[in-house]
Amino acid sequence: MTRGTVLLTGGAGYIGSHTAVELLGAGWDVVVVDDFSNSSPVALERVAQVATGPSAGHLRWHRLDIADTAGLTSVLADEAVDAVVHFAGLKAVGESVAQPLRYYTVNVAGSASLLRAMDATGVRRLVFSSSCTVYGDPERVPIDETAARGASNPYGRTKLVVEDMLMDLAAADDGWQLLALRYFNPVGAHASGRLGEDPEGIPNNLMPYIMQVAAGRHPFVRVFGDDYPTPDGTGIRDYIHVVDLALGHVAALESSDDLPGFTAVNLGTGRGSSVLEVIAAASRAVGRDVPYQVVERRPGDVAATWAEPALAEKLLGWRATRTLDEMAADHWRWQSRNPQGYAGEGAGPPTPPA
Ligand code: NAD
Ligand code: WQD
Repeated sequence: MTRGTVLLTGGAGYIGSHTAVELLGAGWDVVVVDDFSNSSPVALERVAQVATGPSAGHLRWHRLDIADTAGLTSVLADEAVDAVVHFAGLKAVGESVAQPLRYYTVNVAGSASLLRAMDATGVRRLVFSSSCTVYGDPERVPIDETAARGASNPYGRTKLVVEDMLMDLAAADDGWQLLALRYFNPVGAHASGRLGEDPEGIPNNLMPYIMQVAAGRHPFVRVFGDDYPTPDGTGIRDYIHVVDLALGHVAALESSDDLPGFTAVNLGTGRGSSVLEVIAAASRAVGRDVPYQVVERRPGDVAATWAEPALAEKLLGWRATRTLDEMAADHWRWQSRNPQGYAGEGAGPPTPPA
């Protein structure tokens, strides 16, 4: 007897794969749809290996673009899906500035396609991957869910538009249960060292870049500015272990029955860390100093953001427990054991299970 069947769009990606492990472990059957545009089926093979336990659910997957509403409708009906977690989307801020139409098509039209398929099949429970980016440049920290929303780039605007779409849907029909989880900065990897973030090309984000420096792929970390109004002058963010984030989704699915309409909830730790603190934690994890140099500020960066996570504890009964040192240690274990990411194993065209 499982807890039900949950569909993960983008379930082969970084956050989706870790969430799949935790959902399976909690006894959910998991169905993934992914077009593998930014992931590998090898991640799903590893999800199945890592997710064990006496009451673990079953994993199935389909190669599908979320633009394919008819395909999604068939999967929702054939797999008797009870709820959906919608990770699929594009997430690179710089790329969204250069290719806005692609971002609106995949993130906004893709979400509308999914919602149409859910509407057609009567599946009314959705957890959506939103982002702290919807707070733009916050007026105050910590940021709670009542803070003004805004966005300074097309990626952020796609998240705002999808949140607006969910609010409109909830206002039109009170049968929906729509939860937007606003993630802060996910880092780290599964403690097994088998699952982690597999960025294509040179990473933009801090932790994966630090880890590539530690692995010898770049000479030093560029610290983007040390003249911010923060204690050490470098930018402050709320880094959250990806496994804590994954557990937040399990808690969200188990609470969403009690949350009709639209609800937005922050998933963060409530603690900010500076760039230099992250480099120090990574150096401890690696066992030697990771070299860095201070360079100019990166355009568009804000000085400091971190979450007020109280609402997640109140509504979902969830809070993050893993420390920055655990985030760095787990990220390094993944990086050092999988220097080529998932490409080092099982590369080749995917074959869905029968
Ligand atoms: P990811 O790129 O690792 O995962 C996204 C997955 O979606 C990939 O497996 C990709 O192949 C798939 N995908 C993309 N377009 C698709 C399409 N048209 N049809 C089907 N599948 C498609 O990214 P992630 O870091 O796991 O992020 C997941 C979600 O969380 C995204 O919506 C992202 O915007 C959001 N988010 C991420 C972060 C972060 O820092 N990683 C922070 C806040 C919010
Ligand atoms: C963190 C800190 C940088 C790289 C981005 C998206 C956001 C969300 C999470 C999806 C900042 C500094 C970075 C480097 C550095 N994603 N830095 N050297 O910018 O907080 O958020 O990811 O929704 O939308 O914008 O994360 O990891 O890029 O930067 O000094 O090489 O590290 O200036 O202070 P960010 P990040």
